[in-house]
Amino acid sequence: MKLPDAALPEKGTPHDELLATMRERKAADADWRGGKTWSLIYPAGEDVDAVLHDANNLYLFENALNPFRFPSLADMEKEVVAMTARLLNAPPDASGSMTSGGTESIVQAVRVARDRAKAERGITHPKLVIPFSAHPAFAKAAKYFEMELVHIPLDDSLRADVAKADELIDDRTALVVGSAPNYPHGMVDPIPELAALASSRGAPFHTDACVGGFLLPFMERAGMDVPPFDFRVDGVSTMSADVHKYGFATKGASVVLHRNGDHVLGYQAFLYEDWPGGLYGSLALAGARPAAPIAAAWAVMNFLGVEGYVRLAKQTLGTTRALQAGIASCGLRVIGEPAASVFAFGSDDKDIMAIGDLMDDRGWHLDRQHGPDALHMMVSPAHERIVDEFISDLRDAVANAGASRGVEARYS
Ligand SMILES: Cc1ncc(COP(=O)(O)O)c(C=O)c1O
Repeated sequence: MKLPDAALPEKGTPHDELLATMRERKAADADWRGGKTWSLIYPAGEDVDAVLHDANNLYLFENALNPFRFPSLADMEKEVVAMTARLLNAPPDASGSMTSGGTESIVQAVRVARDRAKAERGITHPKLVIPFSAHPAFAKAAKYFEMELVHIPLDDSLRADVAKADELIDDRTALVVGSAPNYPHGMVDPIPELAALASSRGAPFHTDACVGGFLLPFMERAGMDVPPFDFRVDGVSTMSADVHKYGFATKGASVVLHRNGDHVLGYQAFLYEDWPGGLYGSLALAGARPAAPIAAAWAVMNFLGVEGYVRLAKQTLGTTRALQAGIASCGLRVIGEPAASVFAFGSDDKDIMAIGDLMDDRGWHLDRQHGPDALHMMVSPAHERIVDEFISDLRDAVANAGASRGVEARYS
């Protein structure tokens, strides 16, 4: 990766000049406020934005490394974890921690599973068994921790194939995974069946609810159909749930939960005293940790409460259905039967990538997928106001698409 030709300036730059430069550069970035991005940011309204601004500002300079210096942070972190555990129906002795994001929650859960496999079952060459559609964070963890990554193929409904999983989960399996929902097609895997298979081989099971952890519980409360995915399912040992996705916090906020709360200190914690500084203890991958994401998560969860989240879940799902109906009216096809507000759409007779090119030209930042070729959407409440404009642009794109420019599938 070639670096830009940049050196620290000899003299400092005045504040207003800096801001002008940054604003100028930012003008070329994706227009998320205008509802033109689909996964990176989850705008939930100006009232939520104002709370997030204030919470971030209040804790901009603190360091979450040492909870004894900043007890207010330690309390907020514990409350975020406790509220998330209760939301996901964890038993009373469950525990967990906040992490920097979905990837870190997943990496921690995989590391704990690997260490448990060795300590409790003597497994020295562990396998990590994941649906083909699981997030790449699991592959990253498998690479970091030198585990064998095993893919469960998908069935016709694009969920993990249970019969194939039965053949793949064995005595070396350190962890089995299911998504609720997965990123590519928005399907919730058959969590009860997969968790039961894992249990039958003595292996733990992880539900990746990074996307659904703060959405599915509120859909359920709103009376919508939600497949079983949380700690109410026997055999679910750990879960990841991102406050910085449908929890609507600013980035850097996720929760990893362990059904057995003893595993937090017993396996997740890193404790070390063989250096001059005395006992160093940490639950995170990072040492120094930003405090603002903890404050933002705590603030937005308390600001919205169940009522606010249910309202936003209804708005998000209503918008999703309007978009899906509009997509169908353009002669395109939503892939499978997505469980919530994440989905992909393609075409049986048109080049969907060429349609994506024309949507790119109009500033809609749709991710592309392959197997099958598709455009990807992750709907947030703020998309409510762009449905008509989006569908009108999509209709034009379908009518005018020629040959694809060859832009390949890519994640964000
Ligand atoms: C299903 C799922 N799991 C995990 C992640 C990883 O989350 P993060 O990007 O916060 O690390 C994502 C990200 O989109 C996701 O969609």
